[in-house]
Amino acid sequence: MAINRTSSHGEWSSRTAFILAAAGSAVGLGNIWKFPYITGENGGGAFVIIYIMCVILIGIPIMLAEVYLGKRGRLNPIASIRYISERENRSKNWQIIGLIGILAGILILSYYSVIAGWTMAYASRTAFGVLNNIDAAGAAVIFENFIADPERLLAWHTIFCIITALVVSRGVKSGLENAVVRLMPALLVLLVALVFYSAIEGDFANGIKFMLYPDFSQVTGKTILIAMGQAFFSLSLGMGALMVYGSYLSSDVSIPKTCVIVASLDTLVALLAGLAIFPIVISSGLEMTQGPGLIFQTLTVAFGAMPGGQLFGTLFFILLIVAAWTSSISLIEPMIIWLIEKYNVTRIQAAIFSAAIAWFIGIGTIISFNVGSDIKIFGLNIFDFLDYLTSNILLPMGGILITIYVSWLLSKEKVDSELKIKSRILRVLWYFSARVIAPIAVIFVMLNAIGINFDIFS
Ligand code: PHE
Repeated sequence: MAINRTSSHGEWSSRTAFILAAAGSAVGLGNIWKFPYITGENGGGAFVIIYIMCVILIGIPIMLAEVYLGKRGRLNPIASIRYISERENRSKNWQIIGLIGILAGILILSYYSVIAGWTMAYASRTAFGVLNNIDAAGAAVIFENFIADPERLLAWHTIFCIITALVVSRGVKSGLENAVVRLMPALLVLLVALVFYSAIEGDFANGIKFMLYPDFSQVTGKTILIAMGQAFFSLSLGMGALMVYGSYLSSDVSIPKTCVIVASLDTLVALLAGLAIFPIVISSGLEMTQGPGLIFQTLTVAFGAMPGGQLFGTLFFILLIVAAWTSSISLIEPMIIWLIEKYNVTRIQAAIFSAAIAWFIGIGTIISFNVGSDIKIFGLNIFDFLDYLTSNILLPMGGILITIYVSWLLSKEKVDSELKIKSRILRVLWYFSARVIAPIAVIFVMLNAIGINFDIFS
C-alpha cells in the first residue's frame, strides 16, 4: 500500500525532526531580511494583516496538500506526482507541478545565495569590529559601497554556493537535523534579545504603530499579490521543498498539526524580526522604503551602538547564515533527488551540477546592484525580476495546482485517512479553503497583478 512505502533517501528520526527540518526550510532570509523590507516598502500594518491572512487562508491549507503529496509519493516531486496520478487514473501532465517547483527552487537559490553572501560579509565585518560606532549615514555609505563591488559579492556568493553543495552532497538528514536542533532555538533567543534592545533604544511606540496600525487606503491589488507571494516564499510553499521533506516523513505522523506548528513558528520569527527592525529604523532616521539593504543598515547601526554589539552582532549574523543555509538546502534538494532518480548520477554530482547552475544565474543578481543595474526585464532589474517571477508567479502557480490536484482530483478517502483531521468542522474548513478559497484567491490576485482590475481594488 502506498502509505507504507518509504523514501529511498532515508527517513526523519522523529516527528520533531521533521518539524525542525521544515521550520529550517521555512525560517530563513525570507523572515529576517525580506519580510521587514517589503513590509517597509508596502506601508506597514495593513500589509502585515494581509500577510497573516494569506498564511492562514492560503498558506496552511496548501502546505497540508503539499506535504501530503510528498508523504504519499515518497519520490522526487515529479515522480511522486506521476506515481500518484497512475494510481488515481489522473493525467500524468500534473507532473508539471514538480517541474515548476524544481525550476523555482534553483531560480530562488540563485539570488538567495547572493543575499546569504551579504550576511556572511556582514558577519565578518562585525566580528572584526569594522562596523563599531557607525551611524545611519555611515551604514548607508558602507552598504552602498559594498553592493557596488561585483567582485566582492561574487566571492561571497561563490562561498555560499560551495557550502550548500558540500552539505547537500552528504545527504539531508545528517548535518541538517543537528544544525537545526541546536541553532534555530539560539536564533530565536537572539532575536528576542534584539527586540528588547529595540524596545529600549529604538522608537518602539512608532515602530509598533508602523507595523500594526493598518492604513488600508494604501492597499492595492499589487500589495495583496506581494503579501501572498511572501507567504508562499516564507513558508517554502509551492515548489516541492515540503513535498520532498514530507517524503522522508514516517507514516504515523499527523500532517495537519505539524504544518500548523511550522507555519506559526515561521510567522512568529517574521513578526519578531519586524519588531526588532522598525523601531531602530525610525529612531535612527533610516528610510523604511530603502529595499533589500534595510536590515543590513539597520542592524549595523544597532550593533554598532549597543554594548557588546560586536559579539552579539557577529553571533546574530552567523545564526542568520545558518538559517539561510538550512533554507537553501531545501531549495536545491528537489532538483538533486530528481537528478539522482532520473539520471542515476551520484548525490555529489547532482549537488555540484545544481549549485553550479544556481551560481551562474546568481551572477545576474550580483550585477543588478552595480554594473548591470540598467539591464531591465519587463521594467525590473534582474534581481527584482527573479524575485517577482518566483515569489509572485511560480510559487503561487505551483501552490494552486497542488491544492487543486489534492483536494479535487485525488480520492477523498485516501486524503482523509492520511490527513486524519478528526474534527468534522476543521475537515470541512480544510476542504473549503483548499478547494475554493485558496485557488480563487490566488487566481484573483494574480489576474489583478497583471493589470486585470476588479472594482474592489480601485
Ligand atoms: N522559506 C525560505 C525563507 O523564508 C525560503 C524558501 C523559499 C525556501 C521556498 C524553500 C522554498 O527564507
